[in-house]
Amino acid sequence: MEDFHTFLKEVLISEDELQTRIAELGAEISRDYADSAPVLICILRGGVMFLTDLMRRITIPHAIEFMAVSSYGVGQRESTGHVRINLDLNINIQDRDVILVEDIIDSGRTLASVLELLSARKPNSLTVCTLLDKAERREVYVPIRYCGFTIPDRFVFGYGLDLDDLYRNLPFIGVVDLDKYHPAA
Ligand code: PRP
Ligand code: MN
Ligand code: MG
Repeated sequence: MEDFHTFLKEVLISEDELQTRIAELGAEISRDYADSAPVLICILRGGVMFLTDLMRRITIPHAIEFMAVSSYGVGQRESTGHVRINLDLNINIQDRDVILVEDIIDSGRTLASVLELLSARKPNSLTVCTLLDKAERREVYVPIRYCGFTIPDRFVFGYGLDLDDLYRNLPFIGVVDLDKYHPAA
């Protein structure tokens, strides 16, 4: 398998920059939800690195839950506009304060669908916390309460974001050099 250095065009957001901003977001959430025990819902798989770092920066009691949805398949780099629920929640979120945790919002279709689905379950509140906002790609409006970084329309990977299902483990957000990236057939 190719070492990522061969197709890494540049580091867009370094590990230090990510961790500094995540600490700020954790502090903000801890203040805003001081009187409730919110549920952080991680959208698998991309959101998992962000969730685990973010929760360590949240100083108030909170629960975590996972949901798996997919809008991009392996080999597809654009949203298909369809969102499939692959794994649903194990808890009832009625009257709970819910924070959806995502790695990136691109077209907005994934989160718009999840928000619609979850709001029907009558949570007390429902907000969105995304690490990255690729704002210029938005096709569907998504209300964002907490945002780590607004990024340009570049093909990014690492820190939860995959490149054909690999490289999610990298501790930074990198930009792919598409002239040099050759996925395994
Ligand atoms: C990616 C990303 C977001 C979504 C954003 O997930 O993690 O969940 O796409 O795109 P959108 O705003 O255009 O809907 P993906 O479907 O690739 O699944 P993954 O998290 O398992 O990689
Ligand atoms: Mn995802
Ligand atoms: Mg993906």
